[in-house]
Amino acid sequence: MCGIVGYIGTKQAAPIILEGLAKLEYRGYDSAGMAVYDGQKIRIKKSVGRLKVLEELTHGGDLLPGYLGVGHTRWATHGAPTDANSHPHYNEKETIAVVHNGIIENYISLRTKLEGKGYTFVSATDTEVLAHLLDYYYKGNPLEAITKVMHRVEGSYALGVIFAEYPDRIYAVRKASPLIVGQSPEGCFIASDVPAILKYTRTVYFMENLEVACLKDDSLTFYSADEEEIKKESITVDWDAEAAEKGGYEHFMLKEMYEQPKVLEDTLKKCIRNRDICIEELAMTEEDFASIKKIHIVACGSSYHAGVTGKYVIENLARVPVEVDLASEFRYRNPILEEGALVIVISQSGETADSLAAMADMRDKNVKVLALVNVAGSGIARGADYVIYTWAGPEIAVATTKAYSTQLMALYLFAMKLGKIKGALKQQEFEEMLQDLLRLPGQVERLLANTGRIQRFANRYVAARSIFFIGRGIDYAISLEGSLKLKEISYIHSEAYAAGELKHGTISLIEEGTLVVCVCTQPALYQKTISNMVEVKARGAIVLAVTNEENREMEKEADYVIYIPKNNPNFANSLAIIPLQLFGYYVAVEKGCDVDKPRNLAKSVTVE
Ligand code: AGP
Repeated sequence: MCGIVGYIGTKQAAPIILEGLAKLEYRGYDSAGMAVYDGQKIRIKKSVGRLKVLEELTHGGDLLPGYLGVGHTRWATHGAPTDANSHPHYNEKETIAVVHNGIIENYISLRTKLEGKGYTFVSATDTEVLAHLLDYYYKGNPLEAITKVMHRVEGSYALGVIFAEYPDRIYAVRKASPLIVGQSPEGCFIASDVPAILKYTRTVYFMENLEVACLKDDSLTFYSADEEEIKKESITVDWDAEAAEKGGYEHFMLKEMYEQPKVLEDTLKKCIRNRDICIEELAMTEEDFASIKKIHIVACGSSYHAGVTGKYVIENLARVPVEVDLASEFRYRNPILEEGALVIVISQSGETADSLAAMADMRDKNVKVLALVNVAGSGIARGADYVIYTWAGPEIAVATTKAYSTQLMALYLFAMKLGKIKGALKQQEFEEMLQDLLRLPGQVERLLANTGRIQRFANRYVAARSIFFIGRGIDYAISLEGSLKLKEISYIHSEAYAAGELKHGTISLIEEGTLVVCVCTQPALYQKTISNMVEVKARGAIVLAVTNEENREMEKEADYVIYIPKNNPNFANSLAIIPLQLFGYYVAVEKGCDVDKPRNLAKSVTVE
């Protein structure tokens, strides 16, 4: 969850690096630094604090002249955010500089050995160990030193490394943490993510695990960990630069919320043809679908919440049993995986460490894995047997919205295709549901066009100490995501609860004026959920209900009602989540929170 940018070419490196790091601040932003070769030596400038501190420190890069450099924005893992712990890190002779994203799991034992050999450390980071280990193995051949380090360290790393004795090149190394390489007429780039270099190139190479890249100003060479040269294909990225900018919205999160109709439409256009579902990147045959006997959905955070919805929808439409697990739990509970099991790993970034590790365990057990990811070429996308891409485009805000919505859409499509192949979904029902799906983008657009009421309502709750979200079935899954959206950007405590479970303890927390958001979109569960609403109101709660527009009787029961357009109850999450995203957003904005970069969080959690 740190950001790396490197450049070598015909232009000054520092301004390009600063520009690229600015596009990656969402990956981590508690400190930043750069190392640039100035013609004689490698010079490093780094500091704790946001990137603008580094910009000021280096006068926009002017104080670090040179055509070769690497830079870094950090999300602290080992060692608190301090100047000394910021990257890049030097070896003692200051002839090698390294930036790192990931965690070196055996750094303590390596540090002890290096200290025993006379090395002294100036930071508490695992990355500094890499700088000294490179020094220890460097005998004049950079590639040899790098591959020796690769064989010694355990854990995850994306590295940018420069050597003062080789000022004509940058080395990039990847294991588990994302790293891409770009090429342009002005030179070559390394970066943690595409937006950092889109301004200069769309020709991108996604590095695989245990690969090394050697970038010169006019050439690129890739190697294996055994120093064998390897051939790689480039990918042309079709994201436009604006897609990674705010486009006139106050926050990336707001922009991305308003992109939901389009990305849903894009997803449907790519997958619905001739009244059938065709997911071209999904290399599963009808026999593969037919052989599925059980599904395990594994994910984290909002992706997990999408997975909870996926469970209900797949079981409703395909009658295939589904279990949903948090990836951090799944990988340690020794799950029982029988013949015919399919594991679906859902991840926006495709680089979440717990989800990657859960997937790797499944590969070791020869269990088929379907990745449902937003980033082509990401570790989860490349490590799975099958992949479904969610076409949300770059999502910059830490709090996911459009990627979550496209995850839901992908799960609906998968469930319908599976249901049809399994014979649980008749052709007529299938086609009617396709029409229901095609109505969703417009209905989402309608919800986004009327935000005045939810904004005024949100302004009343900026001082709330705790807000509850309750629902049953799919409404419980919607509550989970609504609660997370609120708490992760407004820092207000919030809990999502299965509405029927509240009376088994948690209802004791409801007091006069407590806001309870009650999600009530499933007709078969209306009455049950209304009973729970009455229970909390009897204890002084204020109830905001989110329900279907035909459910007008709700106004007798709830204090405030947000209506969503009528559609198939299986797809209700795609609609009900919109007012809940807006609620969380407006509360956070009213509180003056940093909506796009909430405290303690990063966009991609690439450590355990
Ligand atoms: C979502 O708003 C959160 N930022 C977070 O829970 C996120 O969904 C989680 O970290 C999983 O990320 P992934 O989808 O990239 O795997």
